[in-house]
Amino acid sequence: MTVILGIDIGGSGIKGAPVDTQTGQLVAERHRIPTPNGAKAPDVAEVVAELVKHFEHSGPVGVTFPGVVQHGVTLSAANVDKGWVGLDADDLFTKATGQPVTLLNDADAAGLAEARFGAGKGEIGSVMLLTFGTGIGSALMYGGVLVPNTELGHLWLNVDKAATEAEAWASDRIREKEDLGWKSWAKRASAYLQHVEMLFSPDLFIIGGGVSKKADKWQSQIECHTPLVPAMLQNEAGIVGAALYASER
Ligand code: BGC
Repeated sequence: MTVILGIDIGGSGIKGAPVDTQTGQLVAERHRIPTPNGAKAPDVAEVVAELVKHFEHSGPVGVTFPGVVQHGVTLSAANVDKGWVGLDADDLFTKATGQPVTLLNDADAAGLAEARFGAGKGEIGSVMLLTFGTGIGSALMYGGVLVPNTELGHLWLNVDKAATEAEAWASDRIREKEDLGWKSWAKRASAYLQHVEMLFSPDLFIIGGGVSKKADKWQSQIECHTPLVPAMLQNEAGIVGAALYASER
């Protein structure tokens, strides 16, 4: 059994658990620490180090980040402190924890976990996971292999004749902020999904993020051609995917 610590950095909480990367099962209870105010990099690194200590973990650690991650460097920060842009976060976390850290995008981690152990298990074609939460995250896998950093939440859509960024119009945060009913939100999500399927023709859509727990409220109202399923691993997907990714580096 290869056990790797997976840590998922989110807007409100930073969660971790050791994961058996062969089965995708957590081998200890998840531990959550609230995200420090402002989510500045040094403060987040301290929390990551605290989680490593909590589990008395030594060995590889996989960590997710809600932005573009290329070769350990965080390159965007749509919903977090702008100080992350251009930072070697992999190095920061490796130094803070004293353990070898591997960093990847949060939606990419969820996509890997769902493709291997969850809603996409056994699908050999192209799988597109979209997470609807604070923003919209995306992960594209083909034959289980990830194409990282697709960032499809930042596609622009034509809404009432105006160019509108998808995540500023159809995320779960916007649903809550604008007090949209599920039917209205499903209409927006459908328009977005139709645009994505026109560009990528995936074999399967997996819908993750906050809305995946309430699939009974919206699933039957989504209109698109691609088969669509809610994510199965829900708030464990990031942790499991981060550990999986670190185990294969
Ligand atoms: C970020 C993505 C992230 C998504 C979900 C977007 O705003 O650009 O990198 O995956 O939010 O957190």
